[in-house]
Amino acid sequence: MKIAIVGATGEVGRMMLSCLEEFAVPVTEVDLYASERSKGSALDFRGKPVPVKVLLEDSLLRPYDYVLFSAGGSVARQFAPIAASAGAVMIDNSSAFRQEDSIPLVVPEINGSLLEGYQGIVANPNCTTIQLVLPLAILDSLFGLGKVVVSTYQSVSGSGHKGISALQSQRKGGTDPGIYPELIDLNVIPQIGEFQASGYCQEEEKIHQETRKILTLPDLEVCATTVRVPVVFGHSESVYAEFRTAVDLAKAAQELAQGESLEFSGTTYITPRNLGSSNSSHVSRMRLGTSPRSLCFWCVGHNVRLGAATNAVRILLKHARMAGRL
Ligand SMILES: NC(=O)c1ccc[n+]([C@@H]2O[C@H](COP(=O)([O-])OP(=O)(O)OC[C@H]3O[C@@H](n4cnc5c(N)ncnc54)[C@H](OP(=O)(O)O)[C@@H]3O)[C@@H](O)[C@H]2O)c1
Repeated sequence: MKIAIVGATGEVGRMMLSCLEEFAVPVTEVDLYASERSKGSALDFRGKPVPVKVLLEDSLLRPYDYVLFSAGGSVARQFAPIAASAGAVMIDNSSAFRQEDSIPLVVPEINGSLLEGYQGIVANPNCTTIQLVLPLAILDSLFGLGKVVVSTYQSVSGSGHKGISALQSQRKGGTDPGIYPELIDLNVIPQIGEFQASGYCQEEEKIHQETRKILTLPDLEVCATTVRVPVVFGHSESVYAEFRTAVDLAKAAQELAQGESLEFSGTTYITPRNLGSSNSSHVSRMRLGTSPRSLCFWCVGHNVRLGAATNAVRILLKHARMAGRL
């Protein structure tokens, strides 16, 4: 398969390249694109350096099977339609297309069937949403989900390499907040993205809208508080959920333990530092909430892997299988 990665030098783009190797995607040709800033650089793929090209208007007119986009919303809006019109399936990590009705927002384990016979742009959900909906989809099928209240603890790599640099320089005593509204070292910041008229910030609105779209629950009550924390990789979430029927904790534990791309622990918990190269959503500390129809849990996932690159490559693989390319 002929594949291109746009934004290949970024946190997500580099992980996409690793995932193509890790998931043994049968790549016959890979082209890597980034901005002028990366001119002359190269990235290793299967032990060989691949040059990074500057993205130009006509770059994506080549006949790619899949183009993985991870270069932000404005680049996606400009270039994704070009790739799609040239016949590629374009999998985009930005929020540019996620709320368009005609564009599937896909977590393959939940709604991968949307890829059947599909050509064009596919949207990859927000990192916090992916790790959240994996357990919620199972709990919804068991008890009927009605309401979710989630607080997040999001790592700086979620803001790309500028986020990691900001934390690293502040750890050494720097006082420049960088891309954040305040210093992130030894601090937590309850704002991710601009505040909206609703009083929620952009990241919170993304969780609200994307959770409803992926679970096809347009009336789901969702309330998110998103917080940046001085962790390098791995997002954590404290989740409270209410259901239409009484919760059976043992049944929930059994089904979550068997869930695809899920790791369930009934006796201990995981922290972001322990995630390593996990591609799963880790659920632990599950307990009843304020009534027999509610429960709480702790959820941790690798934002650059599960929350971005791994989900994109899983979309590619699922689509390729359905299209008979694998
Ligand atoms: N980090 C996460 O956990 C995460 C999770 C889910 C979704 N996402 C989304 O994924 C996207 C990338 O995030 P990231 O964390 O990888 O950011 P990043 O580390 O800042 O990397 C951004 C990438 O985009 C490239 N780029 C920027 N402007 C470009 C242009 N005009 N033409 C071509 N390439 C351009 C950069 O190239 P240069 O190196 O040449 O500047 C770099 O490769 C964003 O939309 C982000 O919201 C990120």
